[in-house]
Amino acid sequence: MMELPPFRLERFFAAREFVAPFNLCASDVESMSIGDLLQLEEGAEEKYKNHWLGYTETLGAPGLRVEIAKLYTKISADQVLVEAGGEEVIFTFMNAVLRPGDHVIVHYPCYQSLHQIASGIGCEVTRWEARAESSWKLDLDFLRNAIKESTRLVVINVPHNPTGFQMTQTEWREFIEIASARELLVYSDEAYRGSEYEDVDRLPAACDLYEGASSLGLMSKGYGLPGLRLGWLATRNADILAKISRFKDYTTICSSAPSEFLAELALRHGEQLLERGREIVTANLELLRSFFARHTDCFRWVPPLASPVTFPTLTDGKDVDSFCADLLEAEGVLLLPGTVFSETSHEFRMGMGRRNMPEALTRFEQFLAR
Ligand SMILES: Cc1ncc(COP(=O)(O)O)c(C=O)c1O
Repeated sequence: MMELPPFRLERFFAAREFVAPFNLCASDVESMSIGDLLQLEEGAEEKYKNHWLGYTETLGAPGLRVEIAKLYTKISADQVLVEAGGEEVIFTFMNAVLRPGDHVIVHYPCYQSLHQIASGIGCEVTRWEARAESSWKLDLDFLRNAIKESTRLVVINVPHNPTGFQMTQTEWREFIEIASARELLVYSDEAYRGSEYEDVDRLPAACDLYEGASSLGLMSKGYGLPGLRLGWLATRNADILAKISRFKDYTTICSSAPSEFLAELALRHGEQLLERGREIVTANLELLRSFFARHTDCFRWVPPLASPVTFPTLTDGKDVDSFCADLLEAEGVLLLPGTVFSETSHEFRMGMGRRNMPEALTRFEQFLAR
């Protein structure tokens, strides 16, 4: 059986997320109710009530796949596979595609499953590490030098969780060029595609630029709908899609019919929902700019280039785990210590997607003033 150690971030949240009064480290934007979503369209409520609760297609409901395909330029509805959140996409992709001994290069730090499942399968994993000192920028020369005969897959996540890093259009094309020249598979985690602060910063999806690339998309982050548990993979690689479909017969078979209905509705108004999230995040980002300007004695901060998350550094080598625990205890404000990503981290993740961030920041400052 595949050996998987605890998912540190998820275990950390499981113990705290639902009791902490202020979540100042969420990776998504403020959610909404089913009622709010149904109000987006006349007659949607009635249709939802009548929606059939039979099994749906393994690839996902056809109408939903049509809406998803519109997010890409070269992807058709039958090149999309819908699954139960981004997490199932990552799990089934890695299991369907990787074999023991494959060499995998992974953008690091990262959402743990992006490297852990490959390790669990018995792959050799090389961390393609971004560092605060380099503003979390990815070194493309490192990637060039890390590729070897056994390299099968490169895993990348831009816009990036937890740092908020985003590549430029030029860097992105250069990255794709490196992978395609060596005919490597690319797993592009595009959980935050659509969560740019400016439209010009939105990168073309990897699956549109390169046939060997698969792009992950989901409803959980920028659209603010993680409770739908709905994500997808888009790829022009028919072999990968077929392998994952076969693997999925052992996980969920098909997606939840109510979630598929609601996701399709949400995507018909996708840009409006993304804009709603962007307004919350960019207003909070302004508050953070002045917050960090007032506290240069405690923190170093690389402002995020996209997404609702950012990864400041606690200076003077202070222990970030106890810093976060003390803040939670004193003020009920939850930060995510970077040690869930990497044991030696002095960073902590902040999330800008919550409407109550002004009050959470005020409490954070009261804590710092003590
Ligand atoms: C980069 C990244 N990919 C994938 C996921 C998984 O997404 P989901 O919540 O839809 O399962 C997350 C969730 O935090 C994430 O941050």
